[in-house]
Amino acid sequence: MSVWRKKPISAFEAEMKKGGLNRVLTRWGLTSLGIGAIIGGGIFTLTGIAAHDYAGPALAISFVIAGVGCLFASLCYAEFASVLPVEGSAYSYAYGTVGELFAWFIGWNLILEYMMGATTVAVAWSGYFVKLLHLFHLDIPIWLCNDPVTAATKAAALGIDIPSFAFNLPAFVITWFVTSILIKGIKEAASTNNIIVIIKIAVVLFVIIVGAFYINVENWQPFIPTSVETITDGVVSKSFGWEGVVTAATIVFFAYIGFDAVSTQAGEAINPKKDVPFAIIASLVICTVLYILVSLVLTGMVKYDVLDKAAPVASAFSENGLTWAVFIITIAATAGLTSVMLVMMLGQTRIFLGMAKDGLLPKGMFGTLHPKFKTPYKSTILVGAIISVVASFTPIENVSAMCSMGTLLAFAMVCVAVMLLRYKSPELERPFKAPAVYLVGTLGVSFNLFLMCFVRIETWIAFLIWGAIGVLVYFLYSKRHSNLQNPPIEE
Ligand code: ALA
Repeated sequence: MSVWRKKPISAFEAEMKKGGLNRVLTRWGLTSLGIGAIIGGGIFTLTGIAAHDYAGPALAISFVIAGVGCLFASLCYAEFASVLPVEGSAYSYAYGTVGELFAWFIGWNLILEYMMGATTVAVAWSGYFVKLLHLFHLDIPIWLCNDPVTAATKAAALGIDIPSFAFNLPAFVITWFVTSILIKGIKEAASTNNIIVIIKIAVVLFVIIVGAFYINVENWQPFIPTSVETITDGVVSKSFGWEGVVTAATIVFFAYIGFDAVSTQAGEAINPKKDVPFAIIASLVICTVLYILVSLVLTGMVKYDVLDKAAPVASAFSENGLTWAVFIITIAATAGLTSVMLVMMLGQTRIFLGMAKDGLLPKGMFGTLHPKFKTPYKSTILVGAIISVVASFTPIENVSAMCSMGTLLAFAMVCVAVMLLRYKSPELERPFKAPAVYLVGTLGVSFNLFLMCFVRIETWIAFLIWGAIGVLVYFLYSKRHSNLQNPPIEE
């Protein structure tokens, strides 16, 4: 059997019928879900690293570059979602249209997107939580709220001694908190999640409107600082200048991840063929505008080298003496980041569940539902365990870079798949058609691959190892156990 075998559309339809989910989500309901998944660690935390270390005030340009790349990918995603409005996102679309190996590889990269995404947000959450406690005069020792590398760097900068062991305890605890919610099922958490989304958008608007009054245009000079080359352990890294701006774009690309999460909700949409594409594009466009404004405000409020890398939005306000605003921002960010973790970890377990149902991953581990809660509890615990350990011991820039790599490749593959499908099956009904698909698709592929070239070499090495493991797992396990190879016996 070929690695290009496809899952029949009738099988998707049967699964959707069996699922029997309530179709309650309107187009704006879906858009709000998208925004809820998008706004998180990227804007609240990574803006600090991107502006401080790489782009300076030109951070806004980095957001434009990353946003354009995502826009091409989102148009392709939207077309895919309209052809096959099923749960499971790009992995399922590719399985129904392009073929098994391609779908597997997208799924393998989505693991990086969702799992490393949630890990990044856990570390970001820790940064804001520590800031929040500090506002109440409670300070956690550096070695108990940072990974070992970051703890050593901070201790050296402050000239203090710390134990040789360091561990990010808040990131560890929040991961298990979210894991426990997911095991019980998020139905109860859904309404809280909607409130959190509203708070999150309100606080972003608050930052833009209040912050605008504190902009000092001198902080924007020079807009793109002169380029600097640093060599650490033989590895050359370039900051500022245009190269720094593009490197920062690969970092803040993380801030856009999540618009594709809308596609996992297709089963609950009233009119999925039209509304899912609408929500994907609308949530991305709204967030792009908000992000560009936030980055202009932040770099205008303080000089970019003063921005705190762990909680930059809060720090821009505290530098201006707005302590009351810091309270609001810190509380909202802490709540907002929790909701992103929920969506990302949920998305991860759903993708695993989809792959296990198709026989590509072991059903016992990834496909078994809890007898009472009806959630994939074993894989949820596994995902929680991996995220909590990685988040406790790894610097945020390393995990976010892995997440961005996986997502960039998955987006590029979605663009390829949509063009292939137009060519091979032009007759399919497409309620949403990406405009000038061959141009948009090619630009999407080129843009996403171009951004991958600016990711650091260590990330590339880790990424290639991850890809090689993926190929091995496919040929040693998934290909042989696929339902298309051994159709399951109907009960
Ligand atoms: N875009 C999401 C965030 O920034 C993943 O947290």
